[in-house]
Amino acid sequence: MTRRHFNRLLAAAGTGSGALGGCATGGAGAEPSLDALARAKGLRFGSTLGVGSAGRGSRFHDAAYRELTARECGVLVPENETKWPQLCPDPRQPYRFGPADEMFAWARSQGMALRGHTLLWMLPKWLPDWVNTHDFGAQPRQAAERLLADHVRTTCSHFGDSIESWDVVNEAIAPETGLLHENVLTRHVGDVELIAQAFHQAREHAPKAQLVYNDFMSWGEGNAKHRAGVLKLLAELKRRGAPVQALGLQAHIGVWSLPAPGGAGATGVEWRRFLDEAMGMGLDLLITELDVNDRGLPSDIAQRDAGVAAAARDWLDVTLAAPRLHRLLCWGLADHYSWLQDGKPRDDGLQKRPLPYDAQLKAKPLRGAIADALRAMPAR
Ligand code: G3I
Repeated sequence: MTRRHFNRLLAAAGTGSGALGGCATGGAGAEPSLDALARAKGLRFGSTLGVGSAGRGSRFHDAAYRELTARECGVLVPENETKWPQLCPDPRQPYRFGPADEMFAWARSQGMALRGHTLLWMLPKWLPDWVNTHDFGAQPRQAAERLLADHVRTTCSHFGDSIESWDVVNEAIAPETGLLHENVLTRHVGDVELIAQAFHQAREHAPKAQLVYNDFMSWGEGNAKHRAGVLKLLAELKRRGAPVQALGLQAHIGVWSLPAPGGAGATGVEWRRFLDEAMGMGLDLLITELDVNDRGLPSDIAQRDAGVAAAARDWLDVTLAAPRLHRLLCWGLADHYSWLQDGKPRDDGLQKRPLPYDAQLKAKPLRGAIADALRAMPAR
């Protein structure tokens, strides 16, 4: 993170000044919503909602949180409810569309656009268990192709044109090697071939939706192979005529220390080069899952929040400058509902603070940083 952003944010946290983009007042009431700020620049802002994960209740059924989501967002994506294992945990039973239908009906009533996530998550552990143990019979290639085709058709046909954008394929690249993940389906169909088929099937059954490849490559150290692998996959999909239209940048940013002199520097340049290459293939860009892991930051809340906000601001300044970027979505709005609370804990055992609002739904410096980045970015 850059010292300039960090020092300004830390000073503002100490004084409660408006340098946090208005969030120091503790609410977005008088402030324009993040979606209003985004719209002013030709973007939309959104977030994810879900019925919850083990032990932490349903975000969707938390009325205050849902109201916050409606106030800030113009786009909604379900956190888990449109994934294959959740829709079809047992192939002998009908698809479970209920939870997603309920959320989507509410989101539409609030005037939000809808995203679907995700038709094919390539890692074996995120395929339905029954797919991993499926008997593909005497003609395994045809059987595997049919399994995927049935899933994409059933899912896309159910939601129809209500979904403006689908994460068709999620996380196909192994970050440490840049190579494609294998799974039980790729073993029979081939890796790029399987992914290409998913895009073709999505095009057929969701003809109006934007079709997205979504992944978590970023600008941090050790991401070069991941970025190269993603570009190689996208180029190959284009070469084969697969209808991939956009690249989803998950943006699970990690911040591992307080600012060093130099800040974003070289990594920012490499990141912009990566974005330029993707745009050069004719792809649009979306930020699909922004949050900031604060595991490397000190316990002190003012320092931690300033560090998280400064890291996000650095990343957003570079990323929002990309002219084909049209959506900015966070992976949740309030800290206590973040998936990161389920991951590796902080050394001090404190709850992480990765999202724009705290557990009391009070706006944090990260909200101010997102607002400021939106105000500062070039319009499209
Ligand atoms: O719904 C079941 C529940 O019935 C069961 O009792 C409980 C027991 O653990 O599990 C519940 O399912 C959990 C599900 O979230 C819904 O709450 C799964 O165990 C849990 O693994 C799942 O985690 C999600 C994870 O993706 C895997 O699907 C996280 O909430 C979600 O935030 C995370 O999101 C991913 C994106 O899809 C892709 N990019 C990375 C991002 C973060 O990992």
